[in-house]
Amino acid sequence: MANFPQTRLRRLRESPTLRKMAQETRLSINDFIYPLFVTHGRDVREEIEPMPGCYQFSLDKLSAEAALIAELGIPGVLLFGIPARKDPLGSEAYDPHGIVQEAIGVIKQVAPQLLVVTDVCLCEYTDHGHCGVIKDGKIDNDPSLELLAQSALSHTEAGADMVAPSAMMDGQVRAIRQILDAHSFQNTPIMAYAAKYASSFYGPFRVAAESTPQFGDRRSYQLDPASLRQAMREIELDIDEGADIVMVKPALAYLDVLSKARESFNLPLAAYNVSGEYSMVKAAAQKGWIDGQRITIEILTAIKRAGADIVISYHAKEVAQMLLKEEGIYGQAGVTSLRI
Ligand code: PBG
Repeated sequence: MANFPQTRLRRLRESPTLRKMAQETRLSINDFIYPLFVTHGRDVREEIEPMPGCYQFSLDKLSAEAALIAELGIPGVLLFGIPARKDPLGSEAYDPHGIVQEAIGVIKQVAPQLLVVTDVCLCEYTDHGHCGVIKDGKIDNDPSLELLAQSALSHTEAGADMVAPSAMMDGQVRAIRQILDAHSFQNTPIMAYAAKYASSFYGPFRVAAESTPQFGDRRSYQLDPASLRQAMREIELDIDEGADIVMVKPALAYLDVLSKARESFNLPLAAYNVSGEYSMVKAAAQKGWIDGQRITIEILTAIKRAGADIVISYHAKEVAQMLLKEEGIYGQAGVTSLRI
């Protein structure tokens, strides 16, 4: 019988060594993917105002960044592009010489082992800022699929290791799986933004990617934040359509969704610790109202505790540095072999 005074749960909390041994969740840099924004031009390394520490990079500045990311031990990046021109059909999204397609080559040259994942969506590339094409003022699902599939194919042909469809169009994973298979890319995995919510936490990203919708919002295709069961259906369908990894996005306000997805499905589960989650931490830390480093580790640990295997986060570089330096905050075993 577990009762006091025979049982004292504090016994395991007394020494740092025992606390570390009893720890149930550990952060490892091996779980992280770092998002990168690439843009046209030369000599651009422009800080994104609401996301201190994150930048838009032109291709000439990208090499050094990719080298640093690899050196820090971060295993993968997720690419977003800012096109030269936006149009109703988001043409640069599937242009073989589009900014993302070119960036893949640049990264592969300096850091061939870095896993290059590409976001597959139209919103950065369309002049209306929606994730699909517009017909009669509505986002038209089926014609969008072909454009998304072409985008995924062009990324893969340019050397991407994995594609991540994020448009929340029905059937997008199937359309992408089909086109990749038809072009002998049957070994290229798909990480599906399966449970992607219509969230206000994407605000700073839309500044970073210049992708704010010019009319309306994304609620006709992204999930209603009030719903959990619909998220499970989205994940189920994406698995059915051929997803290899499924994602829940955002992360912090959706830990219940992550936890339920972990219980219900056996695929690797990714969580996207999105821009607004990052900005809130940075803003409060800048004001001295919170301890930014500790809160970052606490949030990311909670995301893993809820069930994420893979964490996509703007904090990845700081985390790598913290894990390397302070093998202590949360006792990170497994990272001691990492050296800059
Ligand atoms: C593209 C896309 C978005 C994000 C990732 N891919 C924006 C959106 O759906 O509005 C958001 C990422 C973030 O906030 O960090 N559709």
